[in-house]
Formats: sequence, structure tokens, C-alpha cells
Amino acid sequence: MMKPFNTVGVIGSGTMGAGIAQVVALAGYKTVLYDVNAEILQVALTRIEQAIAKGIQKGKLSPEARTLIDENLRTTHDLQVLGQGLDLIIEAVPEDLALKCRIFTDLEAICPETTAFVSNTSSLSITALGASTQRSAQFAGLHFFNPVPQMKLVEVIQGKQTDLTLIQKLRTFAESLGKTPVTAKDTPGFIVNRVARAFYGEAIRLLDEGVTDVSTIDAIMKGEGGFAMGPFELMDLIGIDVNFAVSQSVYEAFFQEDRFRPHPIQQQMVEAGYLGRKTGKGFYTYEPA
Ligand SMILES: NC(=O)c1ccc[n+]([C@@H]2O[C@H](COP(=O)([O-])OP(=O)(O)OC[C@H]3O[C@@H](n4cnc5c(N)ncnc54)[C@H](O)[C@@H]3O)[C@@H](O)[C@H]2O)c1
Repeated sequence: MMKPFNTVGVIGSGTMGAGIAQVVALAGYKTVLYDVNAEILQVALTRIEQAIAKGIQKGKLSPEARTLIDENLRTTHDLQVLGQGLDLIIEAVPEDLALKCRIFTDLEAICPETTAFVSNTSSLSITALGASTQRSAQFAGLHFFNPVPQMKLVEVIQGKQTDLTLIQKLRTFAESLGKTPVTAKDTPGFIVNRVARAFYGEAIRLLDEGVTDVSTIDAIMKGEGGFAMGPFELMDLIGIDVNFAVSQSVYEAFFQEDRFRPHPIQQQMVEAGYLGRKTGKGFYTYEPA
């Protein structure tokens, strides 16, 4: 398969950025993973190495996977490194429009015009993010799912000003990572997160009304509903803070339409620091790994 890009940068080495960098490097792209936080970057690299070791041990990855990571993946906490003529930069920092816009402005100052920018945002407007740059035609959404190495779907989002040629290249790129691309227009929550609002929101309302408990809802949705995970397990995996930010963003983007209203339980859990698996407590409690 012809590679649509040669070199790829990933910004933000959290849950999503680390997973994205892993699959991109494994597919043979020269990859630079950047984060402002050097400690998180180190954690990400360790996580990637452990995932590769586990994959090889289980026979899911060939032994050459380790070489691919060693040869293709480098990390940096110096933003200037991303200005060295990369073909594509994938942004995966927290779901905050002002933060993302600031990063794209900083990137724009150091990247040549030939570098395409994409955001992994779950819910923010690709058109608005693109318009914050001088390259809105070379700006799109590329929405991976969590955990990135396992989840096949990638939503490719065409903003109002995005060139169709970039969308085609991104589809080919996603396929080269072994993913299944689906093209979507720029609408709040795109396809999956739009449908999923009700999955999470109604589950939280059932809980609040005391209809039944967390584990019963999860068990029913998996056992009888045929879902791979129940809504509470999934929110704990995604991160309660991340999920709450998406809920708020979709609600605002639909001009506060009632059916998208977030629930105070989400806000309270964020205030308490109960963010799900990553903090050891969310709707469930987790033993340290
Ligand atoms: N978690 C999910 O399930 C999921 C799924 C799909 C998409 N997303 C989207 O992906 C994006 C990232 O989410 P996440 O869950 O990986 O978040 P996260 O909090 O795990 O990671 C964000 C990373 O960005 C880094 N960061 C913060 N400011 C930065 C800056 N100025 N420059 C560089 N790095 C910076 C942080 O240090 C952190 O490592 C969000 O837009 C989110 O909506 C998340």
C-alpha cells in the first residue's frame, strides 16, 4: 500500500496520544511523540514498550514489532522538533478548545505549509479548530477510539473548509494502520459520540433515580444487550473527566438542547477526583496495576 505520509507527529502522550503513536510507529511511519510533561512522556514510552512486549508474548505481534518501535518512534518535550517538516501532525491534548487552538497557533509558526494538521477531538468543531489556523483546507478530524491499538474504527471528519484530497489521504492512512475509516461531516460528537451520549446519559439517570445499581446496568447491557462493555465500565475506561468534557461540549454545541444535558453526578465525580481507571476509582474501584 502506498503510504500517504512519511513522517508523523503526535501531540499529547496521554491515553490517546500514546496509543496513536504506538500504532503509527508500528505501521512503519517515522513518528515523533511530543508532550509538555516529560514525566508523562516517559510513562507513555514505558506503556508502549510493555504493550509491545505483551503483544509479542501473546503472539499477537511479530518479534520485529520491537525493532519497528525502536527505529520509528522518538519522543520529545521540545515543540521545535515538530517544526522539522513533518507530513502530518495529530493533536491529542485535553478536550479544551482554547488549549487546542493555542497549540495549533504555536505549530503554525514553526511548521511548513506542507504539514497537514488533524485533531483527535471527540466533540469540538473541526471547522472552528481549522479556522484558527491559516491552513483550514489542510486541517481535518482524525478520531481514534480507546484503546487505540485494539479499536478498529477511525472517524475521518471533514470540516467546512477541508480539502477532499486530505480526507482521501487520511482514509488511506487509517487503512495503512489496519483501521477501518468512516468519513463523517463535522457535527458535534460526530457519529459514535453522538449516539453514545444517550448510552451514558440514560445510564447515569437510571442510577440517580435509584432504579438499579451500576453493576446491574453494566451486566444487562453486556449480557442481554450484546455490548462489549457496559456504560459505567466504559466511562471509567474513557476517564470521567474526558467523558464529562465531551458531554459539556456536545451540549453547548447544540445550543443547550435538553437531551444532551450533562448530569451533576459527572461533575461531582470530577470534583472528587474520581476519574475512573486512571485514578483507581470511578464508578468502580480498581487495584493498582
Ligand atoms: N480518552 C478517550 O477515551 C478518548 C477517546 C477518543 C478521543 N479522545 C480525545 O483525545 C484527546 C486526548 O484525550 P486523552 O484521553 O488522551 O487525554 P489525557 O488527559 O490522557 O492526555 C492528554 C495529554 O496532553 C498533554 N498536554 C496537555 N497540554 C499540552 C500541551 N500544551 N502540549 C502538549 N501536550 C499537552 C498532557 O500532558 C497529557 O499527557 C481529547 O481531545 C479527547 O476528547 C479521548
